[in-house]
Amino acid sequence: MDINRPGFFISFEGIDGAGKSTHLEAFAKHLGQCYPNHEVVITREPGGTPLGEKLRQLLLQEPMHIETEALLMFAARREHLAQVIEPALQAGKIVISDRFTDASFAYQGGGRGLSLDTLNTLETLVQGRGAELIQPDLTLLFDLPGETAEQRRSKARTPDKFERLDLHFFENVRNEYLRRAKADPGRFMVIDARQSQELIWKQLSEIQLNY
Ligand code: TYD
Repeated sequence: MDINRPGFFISFEGIDGAGKSTHLEAFAKHLGQCYPNHEVVITREPGGTPLGEKLRQLLLQEPMHIETEALLMFAARREHLAQVIEPALQAGKIVISDRFTDASFAYQGGGRGLSLDTLNTLETLVQGRGAELIQPDLTLLFDLPGETAEQRRSKARTPDKFERLDLHFFENVRNEYLRRAKADPGRFMVIDARQSQELIWKQLSEIQLNY
């Protein structure tokens, strides 16, 4: 918790098929019970605002240049921060976002090959507040080998633009997520998504927010 930002910001991350969305609502409900004085807000990226949801449709369906893709991801994020995340944190709420900036580093950086410099510049532009960056206080990374995730995805619904990408792409996305988790162990908690849902839930239900 930050004195200027009395809320708590959590992001859920992982490659498509890792199962993060399965646990998100139950986790939100659980936090609501543990912290009854703090409203829990569930949101997602790309999306989370009316404009962001329109951008999401374009991002998930239309082919585009990788820089256009990154710019639109961050444009949606700018709106999301202004309209949803920052006001909720100011009001002391717990915000859980299904993906945030780590996804841009993993997908547009690791997966598509956009440079770290470009991504850092966009991150500073969109999340910089004075000398600080708005970042989640806690990031739950659902980690799974690309192959297992691919098998799980093939059983699910019609794939979007990202979900149609190949194993190599997802392995690169995964590696970038893991690299970031290793570089910032205080923020990340890596969950082995090969485990049963019961074991994953046990881990999630034991999380204590530093709040
Ligand atoms: P996802 O969160 O997996 O939603 P769903 O469960 O409905 O498929 O889908 C969002 C997709 O957008 C996912 O493939 C990752 C991608 N994405 C990026 O490439 N960069 C980003 O910055 C974000 C937030 C998402």
